[in-house]
Formats: sequence, C-alpha cells, structure tokens
Amino acid sequence: MASTTSGKIAEFRRLLANARSVLVLTGAGVSAESGVPTFRGSGGLWRQYRATDLATLTAFNRSPSLVWEFYHYRREVVRTKQPNKAHIALAEAEKRFEKEGKRFNVITQNVDGLHRKAGSKNLIEMHGNLFVVRCTSCNFIEENTSSPICESLRNRGLPDENGPEIDEKDLPHCRKCRSLLRPHIVWFGEQIWNDVLEKIEKEIQLCDLFLVVGTSSVVYPAAGYASLLSERSILVAEINIETTPSTSIANYHFHGPAAQILPQLLSTNVN
Ligand SMILES: *[C@@H]1O[C@H](CO)[C@@H](O)[C@H](O)[C@H]1NC(C)=O
Ligand SMILES: [Zn+2]
Repeated sequence: MASTTSGKIAEFRRLLANARSVLVLTGAGVSAESGVPTFRGSGGLWRQYRATDLATLTAFNRSPSLVWEFYHYRREVVRTKQPNKAHIALAEAEKRFEKEGKRFNVITQNVDGLHRKAGSKNLIEMHGNLFVVRCTSCNFIEENTSSPICESLRNRGLPDENGPEIDEKDLPHCRKCRSLLRPHIVWFGEQIWNDVLEKIEKEIQLCDLFLVVGTSSVVYPAAGYASLLSERSILVAEINIETTPSTSIANYHFHGPAAQILPQLLSTNVN
C-alpha cells in the first residue's frame, strides 16, 4: 500500500536500519532536480533534433561531428550543475553503511556523473557517463573531463547555431590506436554492456532493500528488478515526483522531490 505519511517515513527508517544490503536505482528525476536537461518530452530539442535522433550509432556514423557537438554541449551544460541533496544523502549513506560493514550500492540511469561528483563509490552507471569516452576500434575506455574535449569543439555545439562539419581527424581520437572516440553511453538501439548487467544481477541477488528514486518502478528496467525482488519478498520503496499508477508494486511510495525526501529517509539526524 502506498502512503506518504511521516509514520511511513519512520517505519521505512526502521527497516533501513536493519537492512544488510541496500540497492538504490536512480533515474532522470534526480538529475532534473539539479537542473540537468533531459532532452525528453516537449522542449527537449537540440537544434531541430530529438535526443533519439542523435543518440544512436547510425547518427554517429552519418555525422560524428554533429553527434560530438551534441555531446560536447551536454558535457559543458552538466559541468555547471551540482549534486543536490538526494545525491549527497546517497553518498553519505554509503559511507555510513560501509563503516558498519553493510552494503550500499547505487545503480543510475543518469549519465551526468553527479553521483560521482557527490562522492558515491559503489556506483553502477548503467547507461554510461558523459565524461567517459570509448574507442570505436580498440574499445579502450577512459574518463575525459577536458573542457572542451578537443580544440575543434571549442565554442561549438550551441543549440541555436549550426556550424560547418568538423573534420573527423579533428574530433577526439584514441591515444592507444588513434581511431575515433565516441561517448561511452548506451545509445538508443544498443544493449547495456554485459559486465554492467552482471554487476546489476549480483546486486539484485544480494540486496534486501530496493529503493527506486526518480524513475517509475512501473517502467523498464526498474519494473523488472522491482517485480523480481518483490516476488522474493524483498522490500521495495519508491520516491517519485510523478504520480505512478496504483498498480505499482512498491511496498512504500513516497511522493515528492528526491532532494527533499531522501535526506529524511536516509540521514541519521532528522529533525
Ligand atoms: C581528452 O581527449 C582529447 C581528445 O582525444 C585529448 O586531447 C585530451 O588529452 C584528453 N584529456 C584527458 C584529460 O585525457
Ligand atoms: Zn583505440
């Protein structure tokens, strides 16, 4: 049964105190609360494109210049954003759990790196990270936070200014094999990497409390994990600003901004 009362918060906190392995799944809602644009829904355009037109291998193969401009723009926007109280509460809870010899892991669908910035270490970025690049040829992966990532992208990527194509040789290249680099992001039509899926499976097996934040537990992939866990009678809680259908399988549903609710659920000093 869903409820939003403070009694439910106290109840949840008691259950959390007894949990040995907490798993948290975060989604776009948590990023949105830091002002990160999601490029979803209306107003989600960059130039005349939707994210679904650009975040694909087909688009990248057709014009690596255009797709790199889009990602360069997103990197530069995200660079100005800060973790909010939800990110910070998660990072702090992780430290506390670790100190007590308990597990606390975050899986995020977000690519903005704000959980890293907040200090989360036990982190699975299931869709990649805007500040990680991967070689299109040798698969070398590394973090690259340079701004701009390469000189040819300086002052490029503006949403209302089309520029000339950037020569492919001037786009980011692998320092191992000199091939073109791409953002290490799971694009539309691509599969989540196997090593990431294996890590997720492992955490799903181990967890005894599952918290879904800023992403609906009725939407894939959270729905799959949540139903799997609730079949095993694992506690599932959800924090969401959107009203989700009452068919939601969460044992607890806290309705509101994650930055407001997560600190109440996770922190030790609540007043
Ligand atoms: C980031 O990538 C660019 C282009 O490949 C490279 O010139 C730069 O040195 C890289 N920065 C870091 C910090 O590795
Ligand atoms: Zn390479």
